[in-house]
Formats: sequence, structure tokens, C-alpha cells
Amino acid sequence: MRRVRKILKAKPVIEGAGVRLKRLFGKPELPLLDPFLLLDDFHSNDPDDYLAGFPMHPHRGIETITYILHGEVAHRDSMGNRGVIQSGDVQWMTAGGGIIHEEMPKRTEGTLWGFQLWANLPASHKMMAPRYQNIKAGEIPCVSPNTDVSIKVICGEVGGVRGPVQGIVSRPEYLDITIHPNAVYEHATEKDCTVFAYVIEGSGSFEGEDHPPILPENLILFAYGSGIRVRTAEEPVRFLLISGQAVREQIAWSGPIVMNTRDELETAFEEYRLGTFLRHN
Ligand code: FE2
Repeated sequence: MRRVRKILKAKPVIEGAGVRLKRLFGKPELPLLDPFLLLDDFHSNDPDDYLAGFPMHPHRGIETITYILHGEVAHRDSMGNRGVIQSGDVQWMTAGGGIIHEEMPKRTEGTLWGFQLWANLPASHKMMAPRYQNIKAGEIPCVSPNTDVSIKVICGEVGGVRGPVQGIVSRPEYLDITIHPNAVYEHATEKDCTVFAYVIEGSGSFEGEDHPPILPENLILFAYGSGIRVRTAEEPVRFLLISGQAVREQIAWSGPIVMNTRDELETAFEEYRLGTFLRHN
């Protein structure tokens, strides 16, 4: 079983045009979570925290994965996509060689709550044609390996059930797992991939019997191994379990663009200034 290698705690940051959110990891943590670059948790009852949104901005060299638990985020992009990501929906956007888009949270009754994960693309795919997979909540299968566990399979395969997001370069797994109280669950993972869990509700122990329970807004990075084991006590636990194959390449990263070299980065920003940034659309 994989042991807990490191626990990361959410830190408040301000992003976009003034959105208050919590960051679990980003540039300072490179290359700890390779192929993943960044994870943000936006979770607020106060529209002033999020209405400023993320007006038009470019991306190149990465994929962004947005999962909304509650609320709505309107988006539009340079490929002509336009719509609203709603509660339970996932948007998997491959920026590839270039996309310009806008992500604007809408005023929500109660809590706006969602996550954005960035996954790096290897040099061989950084300039691929951009693509966009918009997955509605009802398209995400939920499987129960036993009566104590339910798993929303966003990407990857559990018990022969494949998630709707497919064809992703780093062969990621993205699961939303809930475990009832007083239960144990073991989940197999590919031996050499990067695996982390992000607790979103309740608490659970992610290792042998003695490990203290991990609480919400804590991210567990696992050491290498063939699977993870989670144990609950009186409380249930809900967590995202995410894994992927490390890219293991040099990274040059500035804002929303992640390339291999400084030259590539400078070219990207120069092209954005000149209006020649978009290659495929
Ligand atoms: Fe973006």
C-alpha cells in the first residue's frame, strides 16, 4: 500500500480579476505532483468572493479540469464553445497549442463550490490542437464496489466502468469517492504514477491504523505503491482521488502558460501580444 508522503494544506490566494480561493499546490510545489501543476478549491457563500471571475485569458501547454460541486460557471472560448458548467458537471479543456477563454462564476444561492486542476502536457503534445470535453453530471457513472463505498468515475475505470473523459495524454484517473462510517476501502493504483487525495467532506485515515484522520482542505500526496487504503471512524469521508503519469520534463511556467523552455514561453506571450497566438482556430 502507498504510505502518506506529504500532507498539503489549503492556502488563501486571489486569482483572476479578484477571486478569493484556496490553493492546494502550485508553482512552489513543483515537481512534487508531476504531471499536475496546480489545484484550486473555490468554495464560498459570498458572491463578492467570486463574481469578478476570470475574464478572457490565454492558455498553452496544459489541460485544465474544472469540477463544479455546486453552483454555475459560465464560459466561452476562442473555439466557439459557450455554455454554463452546472452542479456536478466537469469541463476538461486541453489548451494544447492555444486557447483563449473566459470563466465567470454566476451568482449562486448558497455555496459556490468547485475545483480546478491543471495537468501538464509533455513536449510532444504541448502544441496539439485544443479540445474541450463538457461532461454533464448525469453522464458521470457512479459505482459501488461494496455497500460502504460509492465512486463517481469522472476519468479512469473502476470495476469495469469507464468514466466519460477519455483520451487524455497522462492517463489520469479522477474519482469522487464517498465512504460510509466505520469502513475500510482499498483502491488499486498504477505502481509508478503520482497519486493524491483531496478531502472535501468528513474525515478519514489514509494509511495504517495509527495514522491520524485527515480533514477537509487537506491534500494527501502518496508515496509509490500499488494501491491506497482509506479507513473511516464515526464520520464518513468524501475525497477526490487523482492520479497520473509524471511527465518528467523541464518546466517554464508563467501565469496561464506552461512550456518547456523560456524561449517557448516568450514566444507564447509575444504571439498573444501580436494576435497570432491561436494556431488551430
Ligand atoms: Fe483559464
